[in-house]
Order: sequence, then C-alpha cells, then structure tokens
Amino acid sequence: MQRREFIQFCAASAAATGAPAAVAADARPQFYSRARLVDPSGTPLRASAVPPQRNLIFLYPYASTPCFLLNLGRPAKESAQLLTADKRSYRWQGGVGARRSIVAYSAICAHQLAYPTREISFISYRTEKSARNRIANVIHCCAEHSQYDPAEGARVVAGPAPQPLAAILLEHEAESDALYAVGTLGGEMFNKFFAKYSFRLSLENGEAARRQAAGTCVVHELEDYCRQQVKC
Ligand code: FES
Repeated sequence: MQRREFIQFCAASAAATGAPAAVAADARPQFYSRARLVDPSGTPLRASAVPPQRNLIFLYPYASTPCFLLNLGRPAKESAQLLTADKRSYRWQGGVGARRSIVAYSAICAHQLAYPTREISFISYRTEKSARNRIANVIHCCAEHSQYDPAEGARVVAGPAPQPLAAILLEHEAESDALYAVGTLGGEMFNKFFAKYSFRLSLENGEAARRQAAGTCVVHELEDYCRQQVKC
C-alpha cells in the first residue's frame, strides 16, 4: 500500500469522551466503492489544486446523491465528537491534504433534505455573513436556515437540523496528491432521500439514481453544476 493520509476512525470514541449513558451504539463508518475525484475533463484532481473557499460538488456514494468538496483555506479542527439524530456518537477526524483543510459532506440537508439539483440549490458553503447568515464560513441551507460548520464535522450551529451533515470519508494519497472518496460517517439520509424524491430521481436518472459511484467521481463548481443558487 502506498503511503497516504487516511482518516482514522475511533470506534471507542463515546467511551473515550464520557458520552452519556443514554447514547446508543456508535455510528460506524459506512464504506462504499473507492472513487478517485477527477475534474470535468477527467483529469485526476490534486489536493493542492482544490481552490480555497469554493463550492465544489460531486456525486457520491450514489449517482444521484450530491456532496460538497471544500477547501476551507485553513486547517479544519483535528476532530469533533458528534451525535446523529438517533443519538449515535461518532468522532469526525478532520480534513485531509497538506494543510488538512479539505473536507467533504453530503449536500443533503439533515432537516428536510433540500439538496442542490441541476436547476436550483438552497444549500451552499458561505464565507460571508448576511442578514440571515450571521456566522461566516458555514454551509447554510436557505430552506429553513440550518447552518453547519464544515471545519467541525458539519456540526449544526443554527437552525432546525437534528444532526450534522453526513461526512464523506476522503483519502489523500501523499505521493500522487490524489483524492479518493471511500465512504461516509454520521447520519446518512440516503434512504429518506430516495423515498422523498423517488419520482424526480427516476425521471432524471432512471434506474441509475441508486447506482453506486465507482471508479471516478467528477467534481464540478457549484455554478457549473446548478443553474441557480439561492442565497439568503
Ligand atoms: S431543509 Fe434545510 S433547513 Fe430545512
């Protein structure tokens, strides 16, 4: 195996941090196909070339489930202890890349499943404050104003979301500077997503909607992926 940075998982994190007795079994990482991130021309994306503070989108772990890839432009927190809505504890282990500034999350809002479609996106990473966005550098869902801190495992910092966005597990291969998506950690919303948007997804993707990503995932700028962004 090549030397590479790899997100380490702490299966015993709840015990290590004295989690409350009522907490259910830990949320375990879910591993899917290992998919290399590439740019729209098919060229492998290098971690050092991921532009800082831009909304980048790729589809993982399914062909219809969008994720944010973000270079925060500063190191993410080394770790964050988080809870799913059903009280399962997990430890998010920070960013990857030379500065540990690169993170990825499911772009399906943990409240009512708003997500970036090809037509419109209510959810995006925002570096600026605004009237409704009093905290800078958050992922803000303008549907009902849930806000998530991408530097802390997408912890909920405001709004009605009952849990963080599910983290996408990234591998960074130091020699090649390549990035791979390998799985998820936290409260996945994919089953609810497929149930809620079944009709739309089948119109847009046919049977491919639930096909798992494999091989490569194309990373797009959100502006190129989506016709209109709602900014609140
Ligand atoms: S769907 Fe995102 S805040 Fe309600």
